[in-house]
Amino acid sequence: MGIFEHKAAVVRNDEVAPSTFLMELESPSIASAAKPGQFVMLRVWGGIDPLLRRPFSICSTGKGTILLLYRVVGKGTRVMAETEAGTQLSVLGPLGRGFEPPGTGEDCLLVAGGMGIAPLAFLARSWEDKSVSFMAGYGTASQIIASEHMGIHGIEIALATDDGSAGFHGPVTGLLEGALEREGKKIVYSCGPAAMLKRVASLCREKQVDCQVSLETVMACGLGACQGCAVPAAAGAGKNTYHVCQDGPVFSGLSIDWEKL
Ligand SMILES: Cc1cc2nc3c(=O)[nH]c(=O)nc-3n(C[C@H](O)[C@H](O)[C@H](O)COP(=O)(O)OP(=O)(O)OC[C@H]3O[C@@H](n4cnc5c(N)ncnc54)[C@H](O)[C@@H]3O)c2cc1C
Ligand code: FES
Repeated sequence: MGIFEHKAAVVRNDEVAPSTFLMELESPSIASAAKPGQFVMLRVWGGIDPLLRRPFSICSTGKGTILLLYRVVGKGTRVMAETEAGTQLSVLGPLGRGFEPPGTGEDCLLVAGGMGIAPLAFLARSWEDKSVSFMAGYGTASQIIASEHMGIHGIEIALATDDGSAGFHGPVTGLLEGALEREGKKIVYSCGPAAMLKRVASLCREKQVDCQVSLETVMACGLGACQGCAVPAAAGAGKNTYHVCQDGPVFSGLSIDWEKL
């Protein structure tokens, strides 16, 4: 449906958990073209430093708007956190290849780690007609993002926390392991830190369950020009590397060489 670049007005930019914000941007063109798993490159302000755009998954779409869920980790996201409603920011998207829908009647299991919940929230909203189970892992209870902030209704999210302060005590992959043992075949969709995705891909491979993972690498251009987002391809892919911005960010769990990532 095309890629759009334009100045988008910030509709709101609310802190929804400590150092975690939801930014809503006015962008009817991107909102109507976006598919779950796709991302935008955002110029976080109009000045010189930071100059490079930053990549963010589309967490949801509204009436002519897109929602980004982000955690403050460095200079760019710090600038974003201070942005007020009404500010105009340059946005480019939707970019990349999103999630492929499941086959008819296939149950979907969504597995999120931290901010990896953003693209999966969009997926859960878009596939309300499908059978979806959702699990999400956080470091601690205070980091949990309430479902309603992401526009998710009617789907319970099973929680895991590293410190045991809410839900299952341990990594979200512990919950996944139990679900794969109990419930038989499902298709798994996942996004989160690389180490978590490696474990998700390995569990799914063991159980012979299809899985699609959304990778987050450092990106400079988002358009295939800088080669900065290369990840190692698994043997037999016919190439040594993939570019996350164009070949992904969503990949089959089997197509990545997790040992070299
Ligand atoms: C396709 C894609 C989708 C993404 N979606 C989201 C999202 O929905 N919400 C969200 O909060 N973040 C998301 N990210 C990560 C986000 O782009 C980075 O957190 C952001 O660019 C950091 O910018 P900064 O200037 O604040 O940090 P910097 O000052 O650039 O870096 C601060 C620290 O964060 C690390 N870092 C920077 N970029 C990334 C990255 N891409 N992945 C992992 N670590 C990184 C750096 O190595 C450094 O340690 C996504 C990344 C990609 C590639
Ligand atoms: S970010 Fe430049 S090639 Fe992927």
